[in-house]
Amino acid sequence: MVSGANQITEGGIDARRLGQEESGDSSPARLASLGEGDTVRVRLQRFDPTRDEAPYTESYEVPYSKLMRVLDVLNYIAEDLEEDLAYRWYCGVKKCGACAVRVNGREVLSCWEAAEPDMVIEPLRHAPVIRDTVVDRAPHEERIKRMSPWLERAEPYPGFPERLSHRDMGGVVHALNCLSCMCCTSACPVLDLGADTDFAGPAPLVQFAQQALDPRDAMDRGRIALDEGSVFDCVSCYRCEEACPVGIPVVSAIIEPLKAMAYRSMPARAGHVGAFLDVIEGRGRIDPSALVLKTQGWGVLLRSPGRTLRLLVRGKIDPLKTFFGDAAKGIAEVRRLFDGTRDWKP
Ligand code: SF4
Ligand code: SF4
Ligand code: FES
Repeated sequence: MVSGANQITEGGIDARRLGQEESGDSSPARLASLGEGDTVRVRLQRFDPTRDEAPYTESYEVPYSKLMRVLDVLNYIAEDLEEDLAYRWYCGVKKCGACAVRVNGREVLSCWEAAEPDMVIEPLRHAPVIRDTVVDRAPHEERIKRMSPWLERAEPYPGFPERLSHRDMGGVVHALNCLSCMCCTSACPVLDLGADTDFAGPAPLVQFAQQALDPRDAMDRGRIALDEGSVFDCVSCYRCEEACPVGIPVVSAIIEPLKAMAYRSMPARAGHVGAFLDVIEGRGRIDPSALVLKTQGWGVLLRSPGRTLRLLVRGKIDPLKTFFGDAAKGIAEVRRLFDGTRDWKP
């Protein structure tokens, strides 16, 4: 099964090299690691749920041709080796996000990533596999649908052209660059928890941010970020940012503003954030034991005495500092920074 709108031919315009050099998707080391006449060794995950009990790996050898992309490798296996291989692509030029796969444990767009001498190619994680490297996008799209993906205007549409400045749209512009490739969702470790978390994952949240961070929108998006996105389940590990092939600052420009929005909308459901702010504002420093007591109450000492003891022994918590310690030097400056921040709007 092969889908695609166009294919770069040898005599055609070499969009591959342009992209690789401009965006730095493929490091110079990887680009230099193969030359004409070399062989690319591929271990490809195969799986047809209608036929196979479990995924298995098949090996292929593909002759390298200049500036070969991962997609060219897949094309060779499907067309020249006549394998009945399922893989997905459409634009071929880093626009549609359809061709995302994992190569050697890293999420990439196959149409934009240089081939490597040895490649393990697998489907994205955190999505059901339809066949081989093709994953089912339906759960991702269902999640987006649940988050009211339309603009609910505070003011009626003023007619075309609508006057919007760069400054107006500065908060939402990163989200609008999203290709919906799901690389970030594949990389997110919180989703490894499966049914133990209701976290939407980064890709649906970036789509949601296209409305939530739009200055024209008037819906209570903070509530939706909590109810449908469980945004506070994000642990700010930045794996999604590292994986994003178009360099969207997913955490700093999307998830953190959504968390702030959720906190403003429903502070009672964002206990950890409120407690964190209280501790910093009160002490001018992080105080882990104060944070635990504020979020979980004194009952935590009875509920998990063993864990409390371990934290004490390892010096992770320090009750003396919590109850008798002074605030940090410069606390007045810290409190000045806090003035008005709880009402901050992204
Ligand atoms: S920062 Fe949050 S959304 Fe991104 S990968 Fe980590 S947990 Fe997932
Ligand atoms: S944020 Fe980046 S990685 Fe995530 S879906 Fe959008 S383009 Fe893909
Ligand atoms: S095929 Fe469209 S982004 Fe790769």
